[in-house]
Amino acid sequence: MLYSPLLLSLLALASNVQAQSSSSVYVEPTVPTGTPIPGDYSGPLRPQIHYSPPRDFMNDPNGMFVDANGLYHLYYQYNPTGIVAGNQHWGHATSKDLYHWENQPIAIFPGAKGEAIFSGSCVIDVNNTSGFFPNQTNGVVAMYTLNTDKEETQELAYSTDGGYTFTKYAGNPVISIGSTQFRDPKVLWHAPTQSWVVVIAYAREYVIGFYTSPDLKTWTHASNFTHHGLIGLQYEVPILISIPMLTNASIADPMDPSNFASTDMWILQISINPGAPLGGSISQYFPGSFNGTHFAPADAGTRLTDFGKDNYAGQYFYGVPPTSPQISMAWASNWEYAQIVPTGQLEGFRSFMTVPRVNVLANTTRNTYALLSLPYDTTPLYTTANSLVNSTSLVNSSLLYDYSTTIPSGALQFSINITGIPLANATGTANFTFLSSVTGESIRGGLFLAGGNGDTPLWMDRGNTRGFNNPFFTDKFSTDVWLNEETQTVRLMGVLDRSILEVFLNNGEKAGTMIFFPQGELDTLIIGTSELNVGVTVSAEVYGLQSTWTSQEVGMGNGTVLGNVTMSSMAAGQKMRRNSLGHLI
Ligand SMILES: *[C@@H]1O[C@H](CO)[C@@H](O)[C@H](O)[C@H]1NC(C)=O
Ligand SMILES: *[C@@H]1O[C@H](CO)[C@@H](O)[C@H](O)[C@H]1NC(C)=O
Ligand SMILES: *[C@@H]1O[C@H](CO)[C@@H](O)[C@H](O)[C@H]1NC(C)=O
Ligand SMILES: *[C@@H]1O[C@H](CO)[C@@H](O)[C@H](O)[C@H]1NC(C)=O
Ligand SMILES: *[C@@H]1O[C@H](CO)[C@@H](O)[C@H](O)[C@H]1NC(C)=O
Ligand SMILES: *[C@@H]1O[C@H](CO)[C@@H](O)[C@H](O)[C@H]1NC(C)=O
Ligand SMILES: *[C@@H]1O[C@H](CO)[C@@H](O)[C@H](O)[C@H]1NC(C)=O
Ligand SMILES: *[C@@H]1O[C@H](CO)[C@@H](O)[C@H](O)[C@H]1NC(C)=O
Ligand SMILES: *[C@@H]1O[C@H](CO)[C@@H](O)[C@H](O)[C@H]1NC(C)=O
Ligand SMILES: *[C@@H]1O[C@H](CO)[C@@H](O)[C@H](O)[C@H]1NC(C)=O
Ligand SMILES: *[C@@H]1O[C@H](CO)[C@@H](O)[C@H](O)[C@H]1NC(C)=O
Ligand SMILES: *[C@@H]1O[C@H](CO)[C@@H](O)[C@H](O)[C@H]1NC(C)=O
Repeated sequence: MLYSPLLLSLLALASNVQAQSSSSVYVEPTVPTGTPIPGDYSGPLRPQIHYSPPRDFMNDPNGMFVDANGLYHLYYQYNPTGIVAGNQHWGHATSKDLYHWENQPIAIFPGAKGEAIFSGSCVIDVNNTSGFFPNQTNGVVAMYTLNTDKEETQELAYSTDGGYTFTKYAGNPVISIGSTQFRDPKVLWHAPTQSWVVVIAYAREYVIGFYTSPDLKTWTHASNFTHHGLIGLQYEVPILISIPMLTNASIADPMDPSNFASTDMWILQISINPGAPLGGSISQYFPGSFNGTHFAPADAGTRLTDFGKDNYAGQYFYGVPPTSPQISMAWASNWEYAQIVPTGQLEGFRSFMTVPRVNVLANTTRNTYALLSLPYDTTPLYTTANSLVNSTSLVNSSLLYDYSTTIPSGALQFSINITGIPLANATGTANFTFLSSVTGESIRGGLFLAGGNGDTPLWMDRGNTRGFNNPFFTDKFSTDVWLNEETQTVRLMGVLDRSILEVFLNNGEKAGTMIFFPQGELDTLIIGTSELNVGVTVSAEVYGLQSTWTSQEVGMGNGTVLGNVTMSSMAAGQKMRRNSLGHLI
C-alpha cells in the first residue's frame, strides 16, 4: 500500500533517525504491546457483521491465512496512533467463521522511528524450508515491505506461536533493489515446482515482478509482467492465486465443488491507485496460467473485481485447499476519501473490510472468464430460521418492511429473483430502497430488464445520504450482465450493514461495494417491480443478521470490545480482565 504522497513526505521529514537494525521493535508509549486495543463497536455507523478496527485507521488486509485448526487470521495495515494513514503496523484479528472476529494484540511493529510496516502476506512453512521452525509444522512466515524515506525493501518475520507474535529475521532485507517504489509481496507455495513464489509491484514502472525461492530467504528474479490492463498512476498489491473453475456457469450453486472442472486456472490481481476509471483506487484481475516462473493471461481483457469504488487491495486466505472456492476480503474504501469519512470524528475509527467472499472462475460464455464472488456462508448469522419477508407476489407491485425493531443490528441480507424473463422484448424494472424513517435519507438500487438484447443493467445510488459530502464521493454506480439464455433468470442479493452495502448479481458475476454515511439509521426496506412482461415471476427474501460484536462487549450494552485478553497477555502488561459477568476486574 501507499497512502498518500503528502503523508509520505511528512513521514520522511519525521524520520531523521536512520533505519536501525530491522530485528528491533520500536514501540511508542501510546501503542500497547501484548494486549489488544479496546474499541467501542456500538456506534450507529459501525458495521455489525463486518470487520473494522477497534479504533484509529485501518487500510489494506494483509497476511491472511487459515491455520490447521480452521482459525482464520486477518492482519491489516494499521495506524494505532492516528485517525488517518501513517505509522503503519500490522493489526491482527482471528475468527472461526470469518464473521465473529476477535481482536488480537498488534502483530508486527516498526523497527525504528520513521519505519513503516507496509502490506504483505503470510505462508505456513510446513516443511521448515526456512529453518525458522526446528520442531513444528505450523510455523508462520510473514513477508512485508519495510518502508523508509530511503527505500522500500522486502522483509521476513516469523511466528512460532501460530501467528500471534513475530520475530524479525536477522538477515533482513531479503529483497532490496534500491527503489522507493517496490512493495506489497504476496508469497505462495507452487507445489509443481516445489518452490516459493513471490509477486511484488515495481509500482511506478507498471511492472509486477515474479521471484522464486527454495527457503523464503534467498530470492531469484524469474519474470516480469508489465503494462497490462489499467495502469492508473501506479500498480500496487499484486495477488497471484490458483482458483477453481466451474464446468458450467449457469448452475444454481456455483460454490459446489462437484461442479468444478479440473483446470489449473490462476488469476493475477493488480490494484491501481490513484488513477482508477471511477477515481482513486480499484483492483483488476487477469485470468490465466502460471508455470512457476511466468504468468500468461488467457486473453487481453481487463476485468475489475467490483463496479463500485469501495473494494481495494483484496487478499486471499493462504491455506484454503486449491480445490475449494478461494476466500477473499478487501478494504472497503477508496483513497480519495478514506481519511476524511465521518466515522473518524464521530466514532473514532476509519475503514471496514468487505464481507469475506468465496470466489471461483466461470466461463460465462460471452466474457469467457469471470470471477464469481459471493458472501461466505451467512446462514449462522440469521436472526430467524425463515426469512422475515417472504414474498412471491411482487410482480408489478411493491412491499415496505420496517425492520427498526426486528433487526436491532441494522445488518441484513436480501435477495430478489426474477424468472421467466423473455429473451426478446423484455420490459420492466426492479428496485430496492433502504430508508431512514427519521431523516428521510436513503440508498437505492435497481435492475433494468429492458435491454432488449439481453443486456441487464444494475445501478446503485448513495446520493440521498447526508452525513458526508465530498466531490470524490461519487454517488451512482452501474454495471451490466447478459441475461442467461438457459435460465432466463436474474438474481440479485445484497448485504446491508449500517454504512456499507454489497450487492451480488446472478452467481456473483458482478459485485458492487458501496459505503455511505447517513445521519439517521436506515430502518425501512422497500422492494418493488413494475412493467414486467406477462409470465415473469418475482420472489424476495430478507434475513436479519445478528451482530457479531455485541456478544463480545463488556457488561450490558456498554459497546466496548476488549478482544483476546488472556492470562498470557496479562503477563505481558495487561492489567484488566473480564469476570464471568463480563465486567472488568
Ligand atoms: C528446521 O531447520 C533447522 C535449521 O535448518 C534445523 O536445525 C532443523 O533440524 C529443521 N527441522 C526439521 C524438522 O527439519
Ligand atoms: C526439538 O525436538 C528435539 C527432540 O524432541 C529436542 O531435543 C530439541 O530440544 C527440540 N528443539 C527445540 C528448539 O525445541
Ligand atoms: C512439503 O513437502 C512435501 C513433501 O516433499 C511436498 O509435497 C509439499 O509440497 C511441501 N509443501 C510445502 C508448503 O513446502
Ligand atoms: C523487471 O522490471 C524491473 C522494473 O522495471 C527492471 O528493473 C528489471 O530489469 C526487469 N527485469 C527483467 C529481467 O526484465
Ligand atoms: C514457463 O513459461 C516460460 C514462458 O513461456 C518458459 O520460458 C519457461 O520455460 C516455462 N517454465 C516451465 C517450468 O515450464
Ligand atoms: C466458453 O464457453 C463458450 C460457449 O460455450 C465456448 O465457445 C468457449 O470455448 C468457452 N471458453 C473456455 C475457455 O472454456
Ligand atoms: C416462503 O413461503 C412459502 C409459502 O408460504 C414457503 O413454502 C417457504 O418455505 C417460505 N420460505 C422461507 C424461506 O421461509
Ligand atoms: C418484439 O417486438 C417487436 C416490435 O414490437 C415485434 O415485432 C416482435 O414480434 C417482438 N418479439 C417477440 C418475441 O415478442
Ligand atoms: C426504479 O427506479 C428507476 C430509476 O429511478 C425508475 O425509472 C423505475 O420506475 C423504478 N422502478 C420501480 C419498480 O420503482
Ligand atoms: C434466489 O435464488 C437463489 C439460488 O437458487 C436462492 O438461494 C434464493 O433463496 C432465492 N431467493 C429468493 C428470494 O427466492
Ligand atoms: C464501557 O466499559 C469500559 C471498561 O469498563 C469503560 O472504559 C467505558 O467507559 C464504558 N463505556 C460506556 C459507554 O459505558
Ligand atoms: C488468544 O491469545 C493467546 C495468546 O496470547 C492464544 O494462545 C489464543 O489462541 C488466542 N485466542 C484466539 C481465539 O485467538
